[in-house]
Amino acid sequence: MSKKIVVSGGLGFIGSHVVVELQNEGYEVIIIDNLSNSSKEVLKGITEITGIEPVFEEFDLRDKIYVSDFFKKHSAIEGVIHFAASKAVGESVQLPLLYYENNLASLIYLLQELEQLPTANFIFSSSCTVYGQADELPITEAAPTKTAESPYGNTKQIGEEIIRDTAKVSKKLNAIALRYFNPIGAHESSKIGELPIGTPQNLVPFITQTGIGIREQLSVFGDDYPTQDGTCIRDYIHVVDLAKAHVAALKRLIEKNNSESYEVFNIGTGKGSSVLEVIHAFEEVSGQKLNYKIVDRREGDITAAYADTTKANQVLGWKSQYTLKDALLSAWNWEKKIRS
Ligand code: WQD
Repeated sequence: MSKKIVVSGGLGFIGSHVVVELQNEGYEVIIIDNLSNSSKEVLKGITEITGIEPVFEEFDLRDKIYVSDFFKKHSAIEGVIHFAASKAVGESVQLPLLYYENNLASLIYLLQELEQLPTANFIFSSSCTVYGQADELPITEAAPTKTAESPYGNTKQIGEEIIRDTAKVSKKLNAIALRYFNPIGAHESSKIGELPIGTPQNLVPFITQTGIGIREQLSVFGDDYPTQDGTCIRDYIHVVDLAKAHVAALKRLIEKNNSESYEVFNIGTGKGSSVLEVIHAFEEVSGQKLNYKIVDRREGDITAAYADTTKANQVLGWKSQYTLKDALLSAWNWEKKIRS
C-alpha cells in the first residue's frame, strides 16, 4: 500500500516537480491547489511524465471548513508538504494583509488538522530570505535570521516560528523547514516548469523570455555591489535537485530518523553565481547573445547569498547534482517548448 502524501500548492513551480519525484519514489500523491497561481495543465504534465495522475482537489486553504472536511475525507495520510503561499516579494509590500492572511492562516489551519491525525509529518517551504544579508558566507542554518525586508519574507520567518512552537508541545507534529536558495530550471522532459504570470520578477525567467524575444532587454539591477564583477551573487539550484531534497526530508520523518521535532535545512548548491555569470552561462547554453543593460539597484536586494549545504549533505544524505548550465539549459528548453 503506497504511502499517501498531501502536497499543497502541488500545481505550482516547485510543488509540481516535488509531486513528480514523490510519484517516482512510489508515494500516492493528493494535490491541493486553488489555481490562483497555477493551472490544471500542470496536472497533465505531471501525469505525462510519471504515467500516474495525482488526485487533485481544488480549494483554498483559507477556507477552514473545507480544510477540515478534506482531512476527514482522506485517511492514512503519512505526510504533508506545504507549498501553497503567495510568493512575490514586491507584491507583498503592496498587499501585506493578503500575504499575512494567505500565507499564515493557511499554515495554521493545516497544522490544526494535522493535530487530529495519528502521525503528522510536515515539510515547510521556507526561504533563504529569512537570513537577509548574512554576516558570513556561505550561510549555515545557525546564521541568525534578520528582520525581513518584505511581508513575504516575514511570513516565512513567522511560519517557521509557528511550526517550531507547535512542534515543541505537540505529541504528533514532526516538521522540517527547507530554506530554499534560488530555484531555477525545469524538468528535463519540458512538460513542467516555471510559469510566471505577467512580467517575471525573478532573473532566470526574465532571461529566457528575453532570449526568446518576449522581453526586449534584461535590466541588470546594479553593477556597483562589492562583488568580483559588481553584480549580486545568488545560489541558483535546479528545481529537480530541490524537489529531491523534499523526498529526502520526508523519508527522514516517515522513518522517524529526525533528532528533533523541528529541524531546518538549507537547500542550495553551495556555490554562488553573479548575475553576469548567469547571463554568460545562458549565452553559452543557448548559443545566442543576450540583450541586457545595467540599471540602478533594485530596492531590497542583498549583495550575496549562497548556502553552506553541509547539514543537508550529511544529515539528509542529499546533495545537488545539476550545474548552473544544466539548470539554465532546462529553463531555456522549457521556454522554447511553451512558446512553440
Ligand atoms: C536574483 C538576482 C536581482 C531580475 C527572490 C526572493 C526569494 C525567492 C527567489 C521565493 C538579484 C537580479 C533579477 C531582473 C536582475 N522567492 N535581477 N534583473 O531576489 O534573490 O530572491 O526570488 O521564495 O525569496 O527574494 O531572486 O531572481 O529576483 O534576483 O538583475 O530582471 O538577479 O537584482 O541580484 P532573489 P531574483
